[in-house]
Amino acid sequence: MEAIVAVYSDWGIGRDGTQPVVLKADRAHFRELTAGTAVIVGRRTLGDFPGGKPLKGRDNIVVSRQADLHIEGARVAHSTEEALAMFFPYLDTVHITKIDLCPESDSFFPDLDALPDWDCESGDWQEENGVRYCFCTYRKNNTVGF
Ligand SMILES: NC(=O)c1ccc[n+]([C@@H]2O[C@H](COP(=O)([O-])OP(=O)(O)OC[C@H]3O[C@@H](n4cnc5c(N)ncnc54)[C@H](OP(=O)(O)O)[C@@H]3O)[C@@H](O)[C@H]2O)c1
Repeated sequence: MEAIVAVYSDWGIGRDGTQPVVLKADRAHFRELTAGTAVIVGRRTLGDFPGGKPLKGRDNIVVSRQADLHIEGARVAHSTEEALAMFFPYLDTVHITKIDLCPESDSFFPDLDALPDWDCESGDWQEENGVRYCFCTYRKNNTVGF
């Protein structure tokens, strides 16, 4: 199971239901890597997608507590309490876009650099409109506990 996320330099991922800084290169990277897969997002993040609509060519799963919510082109999941905590143990690969800025975030991804069971393969640092970023792939290793 894989995850894809863009993090700021403090591993913040968003604030007030949106991303304070968005890079076109990161959105294109997201589209490329998730084509033909399932994507799981919170209901407010869906509103951040182009036109506020599910992404074409993907199985869009939207997390919401609203019992009567129906979204054309998406499946609604109502029972994913602590979804990340449940999801995280099953991850073996995480695609991280590191954005070299630190806007204030209220949502965070676990800092994989602080966890010994994740190895990072880092791409080259690039720049978009003066903002440095790089695409990294984190893979779970089997060293912890052995
Ligand atoms: N940097 C990145 O790569 C990245 C990727 C994704 C998201 N983000 C950012 O991260 C922040 C959080 O995004 P998110 O996708 O976690 O959530 P979100 O898009 O902020 O959606 C929150 C909504 O998800 C539903 N929800 C939350 N917890 C739930 C639960 N336990 N059970 C059922 N429904 C639940 C609720 O929908 P209802 O109100 O309909 O009940 C809630 O209002 C946002 O600021 C977003 O922009 C960043």
